[in-house]
Amino acid sequence: MNKLDSSLVSAALKDKGYELTDQSENADIVLINTCSVREHAENRVFSHLGNLKHLKKTNPSLIVGVIGCMAQRLGSELFEHETVDIVAGPAQIAQIPDLIEQTINDHAKTISITDKIRVTGTEDLSADLDDFEFAYDSDDNHIRSQAFVRIMRGCNKFCTYCIVPYVRGPEVSRPPHAIIDQIKKLASKGIKQITLLGQTVNSYTFAENEKTYTLADLLEMANEIDGIEWIRFITSHPKNFDESILRAMADLPKVCKYLHIPAQSGSDKILKAMNRGYSADEYLDFIERAKQIVPDIAIAGDFIVGFPGETDEDFQATVDLVKKAKYKNCFVFKYSPRPGTHTDKKLEDSIPDEVKKQRNTELLEVQTKISEEDNKKFLGQTIEVLVEGPSKKPHLNKTENDNNPQLMGRTATDYIVVFNGPESLAGQFANIKIIKTAALTLFGELA
Ligand code: 5AD
Ligand code: SF4
Repeated sequence: MNKLDSSLVSAALKDKGYELTDQSENADIVLINTCSVREHAENRVFSHLGNLKHLKKTNPSLIVGVIGCMAQRLGSELFEHETVDIVAGPAQIAQIPDLIEQTINDHAKTISITDKIRVTGTEDLSADLDDFEFAYDSDDNHIRSQAFVRIMRGCNKFCTYCIVPYVRGPEVSRPPHAIIDQIKKLASKGIKQITLLGQTVNSYTFAENEKTYTLADLLEMANEIDGIEWIRFITSHPKNFDESILRAMADLPKVCKYLHIPAQSGSDKILKAMNRGYSADEYLDFIERAKQIVPDIAIAGDFIVGFPGETDEDFQATVDLVKKAKYKNCFVFKYSPRPGTHTDKKLEDSIPDEVKKQRNTELLEVQTKISEEDNKKFLGQTIEVLVEGPSKKPHLNKTENDNNPQLMGRTATDYIVVFNGPESLAGQFANIKIIKTAALTLFGELA
């Protein structure tokens, strides 16, 4: 979501004649797009602001903006950092070029966020946001041939630990025709893979012309668009997951068999305290069902360790769930209290950081063993990947790198594949024969 917002804003600014630089020393304007999900992310923003304060001493006309979720959460409090000139929430990204101009012309600080976001929501801003998204969606893609398409904004789930409903507002689904037009436009510009985005993407619903459109309908419509080859959607919520979505994954050739569906915990007590709306058994039953309906489905999960009151037994239940679910991979986070959330108001952050760290490591180790074992099934197989570009780390045959650098791509089911090949393959599909496997990466050669 944040990557999409950042690329929209930078495309809009480029359109206005601004140029991008990746060195803040060379910049006239620095915008920090922020995340509030964990305290750590916010602390990094404050440390950036500290550095920018020094930069402003040598360049007093430097303009600094804090945009995104932290801007919505903290509002004018951010001006307590004298460095900050602009504050704009995630629903106000379309206004950023105007806010910058206003700041330059008036030599004044500017702010635009949503007042009482749960009450007023962002519905009235939706049309502006839709236009903004349509205008700038494909102009600043970081990965060639791939694009994100937001299908809904906000969240109504209120997991007790989570800040998202308070900074992104209530759920608003975008009209299906706007989404489909946007995908068609992206396809005409050479986009091959789209990822439909929503905080709870499976709750997408839009009533139009006496029909209620669901995510399964969108997948079906997107599947018909020429030029689009792979369709993904993230992130799903396990509660009320409609089986029509699983059937769309099984039946529609362009829909990738990849499901990111966070469990967060394997303990019923903790799941209840988190307000997740399902038990560990219900979650595992769903995973079984998904595997039945969609053969070879790859499933990824998120977990929070060290939620207030999580005992060793609760944590063990999470380990058991991970072993049973047999994920492709997992993302594990240490519980981070977020001001204003239900958990933060009612429960003390009781688990010491040492214990959180240790549980985090242990859970990842359990998953690593599962992934290592599971990935061996690819040995000797030739699989299709969409090539992203040069691999960040050299892994394989370094001597080959001069003519054929090491490239990285992903399979339709999101497995990372590293191989040597010409850089011109970036943005193309390629068939790779797998010759070595590890927990997080498959290694191969061009077939
Ligand atoms: N502390 C730690 N992790 C969190 N997440 C959401 N809120 C918190 C929090 N307060 C995690 C969840 C979610 C992912 C995006 O971030 O696992 O799925
Ligand atoms: Fe946060 Fe829960 Fe909504 Fe996901 S579903 S964004 S974890 S409140």
